[in-house]
Amino acid sequence: MKKDLLTINDLTAGDLDTILERSAWLKKALKDGNTHHPLKGRSLGMIFEKSSTRTRVSFEVGMYQLGGQALFLSPADLQMGRGEPVADTARTLSRYLDGIMIRTFAQSMVEELAKHATIPVINGLTDMHHPCQALADLFTIREKRGTLKGLTFAYVGDGNNMAHSLIEACVKAGMRVSLACPAGYAPDAAIMREAKQVAVRSGGELSLTDDPKKAVKGADVVYTDVWASMGQEQEHALRVQAFKGYEVDEKLVKLADPKAIVMHCLPAHRGEEISAGVIEGPQSVVFDQAENRLHTQKAIMELLMG
Ligand code: CP
Ligand code: NVA
Repeated sequence: MKKDLLTINDLTAGDLDTILERSAWLKKALKDGNTHHPLKGRSLGMIFEKSSTRTRVSFEVGMYQLGGQALFLSPADLQMGRGEPVADTARTLSRYLDGIMIRTFAQSMVEELAKHATIPVINGLTDMHHPCQALADLFTIREKRGTLKGLTFAYVGDGNNMAHSLIEACVKAGMRVSLACPAGYAPDAAIMREAKQVAVRSGGELSLTDDPKKAVKGADVVYTDVWASMGQEQEHALRVQAFKGYEVDEKLVKLADPKAIVMHCLPAHRGEEISAGVIEGPQSVVFDQAENRLHTQKAIMELLMG
């Protein structure tokens, strides 16, 4: 049976461990200059309906490093852009490719693609989820702090796609997740409910407040993301008002554990969700995070397409 990665919940706790262990192995092999070609002769199709720097380049380079190739498929060029059904696209692409990575708007579109494809489908970001980023983030936290279980992970800002995947990933790893989101911008209620159940089994915790100071107090990790995501550009001014007081700045970071790391999936808006001083400061690990996309996605492709 083929396996997809549409949300973090598609992964068992065992898969999560495999991906993190394998990411470390792949990262070391690359740094040591060792070639490793388990996906020789395989092809990954990449469909992007939204912009991307990190996801596009890390998947393409990652596939090359694993011995395969990646094809950038712009919806403007695909017949899908002219109305060919997703189901027909999925069945056709399954005859040529060994995997599909897609970045799009609706989660239902990724589900539809996966339903009709006979090859693994990887979610490279939707309005609801960003599982590949969350996996790279767990890997980065483990690298920096040596462990995941029991750490306090504070997320300050919009209850968006990034928040959803981080909630699912962190509770699965047994972390204590404390979120601060303004009223009206809380994460999806169903995702919160399910994550609370996962936390009971994993020994993790999950809490939500509208007070960033409370969420960040004593935290081991402080994470934020943009206030207006791709597709919400027209809400930007409104959101800047709603998120007043939610900037991750020097004053807020001081409330966290002195050894805390500061994370952001990028792209960032300095002076909005994060101050220039914090993102460029000694606690920031944002470019290690960005690099780790490459290593974790290679591990994901090995697991699903190997
Ligand atoms: N973090 C992330 O997914 O970046 P891109 O939008 O550049 O792919
Ligand atoms: N929440 C952001 C993440 C970008 C990687 C967005 O969807 O635009």
